[in-house]
Amino acid sequence: MVIGFESTEAALPFFNGWVLMSVCYLAGKPNMKKVISKLLQARELQAKGDLKAAADLFETCMLENHDEPAAFTGWAEICASRGLVEEGLRGFDEALRLEGTYLPALLGRARLLLDLGEPEAAMEDLEVAENTNPDDADVMVLKGYALLDLHWNKDAAACFRRAMALNPNLPGIEEALARLGSESIPLWHFTMLVDHARNQAYREVIERAVKPGMHVLDIGAGTGLLSMMAAKAGAELVTCVEMGKEMASVAQRVIALNGYEDQIRMFNLHSGWLRVGEHLPRKVDIVVSEIVDAALLGEGVLPSLRHAWSSLAAPGARMIPASATVHGMLLNLPVASLKDVEGFDLSVLESYHYPGGSRNVRLNQEKHQALSEPFVVGEFDFTDIPPAVHDEQRIHTTAVLKASSQGCANAVVVWFTLHLDSITSVGSGPNDSMDHWGQLCYFLPQEIHVEQGQEITLHISRNDTRWWFRV
Ligand SMILES: C[S@@+](CC[C@H](N)C(=O)[O-])C[C@H]1O[C@@H](n2cnc3c(N)ncnc32)[C@H](O)[C@@H]1O
Repeated sequence: MVIGFESTEAALPFFNGWVLMSVCYLAGKPNMKKVISKLLQARELQAKGDLKAAADLFETCMLENHDEPAAFTGWAEICASRGLVEEGLRGFDEALRLEGTYLPALLGRARLLLDLGEPEAAMEDLEVAENTNPDDADVMVLKGYALLDLHWNKDAAACFRRAMALNPNLPGIEEALARLGSESIPLWHFTMLVDHARNQAYREVIERAVKPGMHVLDIGAGTGLLSMMAAKAGAELVTCVEMGKEMASVAQRVIALNGYEDQIRMFNLHSGWLRVGEHLPRKVDIVVSEIVDAALLGEGVLPSLRHAWSSLAAPGARMIPASATVHGMLLNLPVASLKDVEGFDLSVLESYHYPGGSRNVRLNQEKHQALSEPFVVGEFDFTDIPPAVHDEQRIHTTAVLKASSQGCANAVVVWFTLHLDSITSVGSGPNDSMDHWGQLCYFLPQEIHVEQGQEITLHISRNDTRWWFRV
């Protein structure tokens, strides 16, 4: 991550803080008027963008006063800002050798370490800085960024909020919080929510199923769209559950914005924690959900719906979707050779494209050769989900395929159809109307050459959350 000042203006508040601190620090020492005035001058030059002149002045101060951390810090900041990393680190080190808790040097070195992708090392400086300056907003912001780089998003958010409370005008905090928010809400929500085929199908089925007085459970509410459809269709109560913290807060606001807060009860939980009597006043008549990934199982639809059906659904309840089919197709999906890229051999990377790995594809936009007709990989009735399968006890099946042409089979691509009810289904296949999911391609552990008409036995395994394929 790069934390720098985009303009001199943006840097000014920081510089002013620095100047004040340096003056206070130096004022405690005798005969320092000259040094102070030179340092102030250097800071001014630095703030104006005349880095060369500022660096010269800092250097003079360093030579004249070997024990002034402020001079080493100023010089180090300029070095760091000009890409002179080694010199920058040396300057900050020297400043901190002279004064181990000197805040501008701690902040400067932490900022440089973050730029160098070393958040743990930056955290060490920031902890010292926080111990000596617990109410400094700059320390809090940098600590927030370090925690963000370490993927401690909750703690990062707490730091940004504290920085905001300490100094509401500090630039960049709102942006940092927005970055945090967008990291905790995957961007596919945006394409999913405007997938008209998906939305329309769910709306039609929900409107057909919901009757006045019913209690509907929406598992994985996202923005609360399906909950609001159920409420609008006349449900007496909709209980909705969303495990993502930020997402749940969005749903809460969306539901209020649309005026459904009296009908919809929201919980920021994984559905597995829901209890009748505690969260739900009674069992539910309908469970609606769309907790799938491109290969259906990856988001834990089986464990979540298994629990909902056995523990939360009233006798005679309905599931929307009622069932799902996973489809597959044998194909050749070329893996680009990296042997000659602009005359360079990059093939070392090829071993990282490991057999058995998978990646998302949009088949109708990628060059490929279909080597079989689509076939059924698996079918799931959500009112009768088989018992949990953990990794070591995968379920194995086989599919016998006929090669539709000659070629080298190196992958199986999968997609799904959700049977929302007995009338309406939506699919995520290359020729289906629901287009935001795309498909998931599993590379076979071993490629196989096939002739047209040849029979191929494909071995399919799964546990509760993923698939494996081999020939
Ligand atoms: C694919 S989105 C669907 C959102 C929304 N239902 C819609 O149709 O627009 C799935 C959401 O379910 C949440 N989720 C998945 N499994 C869950 C579970 N068992 N309990 C609570 N939330 C879950 C995820 O965090 C994600 O936000």
